[in-house]
Amino acid sequence: MNTLTKLALGLMGQLKPLPAVGDASTTLALLPPAQDGGMLLMDALRRRQSQREFSPEPLGEQCLSDLLWAAAGINRPDLGGRTAPSAMNAQEVELHVALPQGLFRYEPHAHALQLTVASDVRRITGYQDFVDLAALDLIYVADHARMKLVPAAQREAYAFAAAGAMAQNVYLYCASAGLATVVRAWFDRHALAQAMALGTDRQLLLAQTVGRARGGERP
Ligand SMILES: Cc1cc2nc3c(=O)[nH]c(=O)nc-3n(C[C@H](O)[C@H](O)[C@H](O)COP(=O)(O)O)c2cc1C
Repeated sequence: MNTLTKLALGLMGQLKPLPAVGDASTTLALLPPAQDGGMLLMDALRRRQSQREFSPEPLGEQCLSDLLWAAAGINRPDLGGRTAPSAMNAQEVELHVALPQGLFRYEPHAHALQLTVASDVRRITGYQDFVDLAALDLIYVADHARMKLVPAAQREAYAFAAAGAMAQNVYLYCASAGLATVVRAWFDRHALAQAMALGTDRQLLLAQTVGRARGGERP
């Protein structure tokens, strides 16, 4: 759906998800994350970029697992530490994954995806048309209930900072794995919050599209 149509539907409160493709299981187990290999860090930094032309091809299972682990996975199991920092280790940013078969929340401890909405919400994750058909859109959501120790006036800024760190992990993973990605803030926050059935303690922060570049070669 093109941007103008999305803007018009959004104004009318009619920007809605599509039915899910196929049967979504309530939990999607993920392969163990590889946690090693990949490109040298300096090479990945050299290649990091935003791209906006995506193929609809789904990601492979290992790739999906590694991507989610890079974004929000547990890298120090003894401490429950994550791959990205958060103020006072509040770990307040949830990672949601919009796939054709439904919307899922990434559960770092189980390293699994939990179905939250049995609809394809990809097209509501951004006004730009490429978000509709790319392999997946990530959605970063702050859970304010986890930030009780953070001064109230700082919570939003800290949550955006934590989401930014996660998004950069995704950029670097994508650079390493030969995937395209772009982090985004331009979306209909009301329509997306409604489609995700978010409660009042949840705040939408950012979205990020990930997939193979259209016409790009496999790494
Ligand atoms: C907070 C934030 C919001 C952004 N929102 C969008 C967006 O809604 N749509 C988009 O296409 N790009 C968005 N971008 C990506 C920037 O346009 C992009 O990073 C910038 O043009 C620099 O390009 P580069 O990432 O290739 O270096 C956003 C980036 C940030 C950090």
